[in-house]
Amino acid sequence: MAKKKIALIGGGQIGGNLALLAAQKELGNVVIFDIPKAEGMVKGKALDLMQLRPHDGHDVTITGSSNYSDISGADVIIITAGIPRKPGMDREDLLGINLGIMKDVATNVKEYAPNAFVIVISNPLDAMVYAFYKVSGFDKNKIVGMAGALDSGRFRAFIAMETGYSVQDVTCMVLGGHGDTMVPITRLATVGGVPVTDLISPERLKKIEDRTRAAGGEIVKLFGNGSAFYAPAQSAIEMAESYLRDKKRVIPCASLCEGEFGVDGYFIGVPSVIGSGGVEKVLEFTLRDDEQSELNKTLDAVKKTVGETGL
Ligand code: APR
Repeated sequence: MAKKKIALIGGGQIGGNLALLAAQKELGNVVIFDIPKAEGMVKGKALDLMQLRPHDGHDVTITGSSNYSDISGADVIIITAGIPRKPGMDREDLLGINLGIMKDVATNVKEYAPNAFVIVISNPLDAMVYAFYKVSGFDKNKIVGMAGALDSGRFRAFIAMETGYSVQDVTCMVLGGHGDTMVPITRLATVGGVPVTDLISPERLKKIEDRTRAAGGEIVKLFGNGSAFYAPAQSAIEMAESYLRDKKRVIPCASLCEGEFGVDGYFIGVPSVIGSGGVEKVLEFTLRDDEQSELNKTLDAVKKTVGETGL
């Protein structure tokens, strides 16, 4: 069977890690695209990754390019093009620069890879995925934002760190926008099926929720120049793999809601089934009143940023 093709738009910190993970999982041949100024950087990364293969044993090819025609026919596109945060910045502060970049990316992806499943990572996430959707005219099931997977993963990691139990057995979900108003649904978090509310005190749980909301910023502050890249890359690869292998995993993703959870016409983090049809379904469930009102708050924040795109 012919190999699939994964095109990464943006070959910086997250892009480089996406390339490594996609190759190691043999998801398909990888093209790392970046602007002409960064052509040497992505060609260098691609060559370095080609030379990792003898130690790893996989046979996919990795190439770097600043020519959009090289993404032609891609099955999956993962977009990280844009600038990351610096300390003191909110994700929303990136809108001015990253919106212009996203419009350019969407126009080119539409031209060269109109049938791809597109995963957006660039921030501010909920507005960037919306901008891609509007500019490209892609079907809603072929465009999704990576945020909830990462935010839920961070929540899982903190619960595992708190309890000392395997992170593999921690499940939980974080809904809403990819910002300070995101909504961890703590009552549904479990360790091996045991509710975390029976394992961790309410005070400690509150601290873990707060740390989850601020987890990206905690790393931005430590780095001093740039934002997280390992976990964001792994989270997006999980989504790409579920699409390519039709796994139908249920992952919190920024999907276009049309009435689900009372949200209409916006991309927001909701449990989504990802299979060969793309975002095949949003799994709606009954929220408690306090959770719904938190979701409404996060929706207001998303609407505000989306409104600023003028799209
Ligand atoms: N087209 C393609 N790539 C672009 C464009 C463009 N128009 N403009 C910038 N880029 C590239 C940059 O050249 C750079 O290589 O996007 C890459 C971004 O990489 P980094 O600066 O290392 O940023 P990274 O940490 O990967 O984060 C990327 O994801 O999580 C978000 O907030 C983060 O918006 C940021 C994005």
